[in-house]
Amino acid sequence: MERTLSIIKPDGVEKNVIGEIIARFEKNGLGIAALKMVHLSKKEAEGFYIVHKDRPFYGSLTDFMSRGPVVLMVLEGENAIAKNREIMGATNPEQAEPGTIRKDFATNIEENTVHGSDSPESAAFEIGYFFNAFELVR
Ligand code: CMP
Repeated sequence: MERTLSIIKPDGVEKNVIGEIIARFEKNGLGIAALKMVHLSKKEAEGFYIVHKDRPFYGSLTDFMSRGPVVLMVLEGENAIAKNREIMGATNPEQAEPGTIRKDFATNIEENTVHGSDSPESAAFEIGYFFNAFELVR
């Protein structure tokens, strides 16, 4: 069993596809170990994406991530990190496989509807950034 952090980004919430996205995770064998909806501040988004602080898109990315509510989830299952990335599709929706969340819903490389941890190390940091032990209900 493995855990990964998933975010439905502001564009996904605005497009009213929260339920459809969660259904794709569940249909693919990922369970939800924690879930909440929050509106991140600019500072909270900056802290979450601190690894990207030197990238040219850091300012715009953190503006986007703090413009409206997001859904934060901890997904759990066998190979959850890789499985979630497969279900999401490539970062750039133009390169995402048909049937993936980003192919079906993303606007562009920045407003790409979902986030998923890319390694066990980042999953540990990202889950700990948003959830405490009390909130991890399984
Ligand atoms: P995510 O998987 O959350 O990880 C970092 C995010 O930065 C990424 O999804 C996109 O939202 C954004 N991103 C990555 N590359 C670019 C880029 N070239 N231009 C703008 N935003 C980007």
